[in-house]
Amino acid sequence: MDLGIKNKVALVTASSRGLGKVVALQLSREGAQVIICARNKETLFRTRDEIAAETEGIVEAFIADVTNKKQIKKMVEQIVKKFSTIDILVCNAGGPPAGMVDDFSLDDYHDALELNLLSTINLCYEVIPFMKKQHWGRIVNMTSVSVKQPIDNLILSNTSRTGILGFSKSLSNQVAKYGITVNAVCPGYTKTQRVENLAKSYKESGKGTIADFYKKIENSIPMRRLGTPEEFANAVAFLVSEGASYITGVALQIDGGFVKGLF
Ligand SMILES: NC(=O)c1ccc[n+]([C@@H]2O[C@H](COP(=O)([O-])OP(=O)(O)OC[C@H]3O[C@@H](n4cnc5c(N)ncnc54)[C@H](OP(=O)(O)O)[C@@H]3O)[C@@H](O)[C@H]2O)c1
Repeated sequence: MDLGIKNKVALVTASSRGLGKVVALQLSREGAQVIICARNKETLFRTRDEIAAETEGIVEAFIADVTNKKQIKKMVEQIVKKFSTIDILVCNAGGPPAGMVDDFSLDDYHDALELNLLSTINLCYEVIPFMKKQHWGRIVNMTSVSVKQPIDNLILSNTSRTGILGFSKSLSNQVAKYGITVNAVCPGYTKTQRVENLAKSYKESGKGTIADFYKKIENSIPMRRLGTPEEFANAVAFLVSEGASYITGVALQIDGGFVKGLF
């Protein structure tokens, strides 16, 4: 299936590893001109080179922290200077630390909101004017299955990501008339460094072994396995495609059936 995104300019944030990286790779395979960003220069540049080597596409990398307004503004300005616009925006960031209500102070909630919610809002504010001008745009905001079914031991994530859902839905209603779609994606447990870190923190908190962690998760998923980053990236690639032009305001789970509710 041709996704119709050849030569589109796609900014995928927090994309030197994990889900963001595989989304960037997938969009590059589809012929998009891809811009990636992260904080660690070495990993970021290695990823840029890996993607470009595989797809022979145009891949740019910017060292930027999504919580830093100045850095994001500068990155968007430089992208627009070079590519004239941004057609596709995938707002991703790292995940806040795992823990229960007693593990955190108000400052930790501020940090989590900055990392996930405010970074998403800021990126959308920076990029939407260009999408409006050209009457075409695709925005995909990263959340988690925790927005539909809060996950024990992830209270910061459960809290910060639900705001993204409210923002995405409201925004989708307001920019639809400009040909811009805004959707949220809700990955379930997907094999990345982030899940390996959660497994380590499970072991360190004395709850059981790393194998116990994975067994517990697999038992909670009807497909009885974790997802792959590629399975996640396929869904994002469809949402940013020409063919998904009438899909907006949804929050799509990519979770092997993990969420047990109806919506
Ligand atoms: N994997 C899952 O099962 C799963 C499930 C649900 C939700 N999620 C969420 O999906 C997102 C991506 O997860 P992942 O598993 O791909 O994580 P990951 O493997 O830890 O990768 C995170 C990526 O984000 C970058 N990053 C982190 N903080 C950043 C910041 N402040 N500014 C710019 N880049 C930043 C990292 O690079 P640098 O450290 O160099 O900046 C890295 O490239 C996270 O928010 C995670 O919580 C993941």
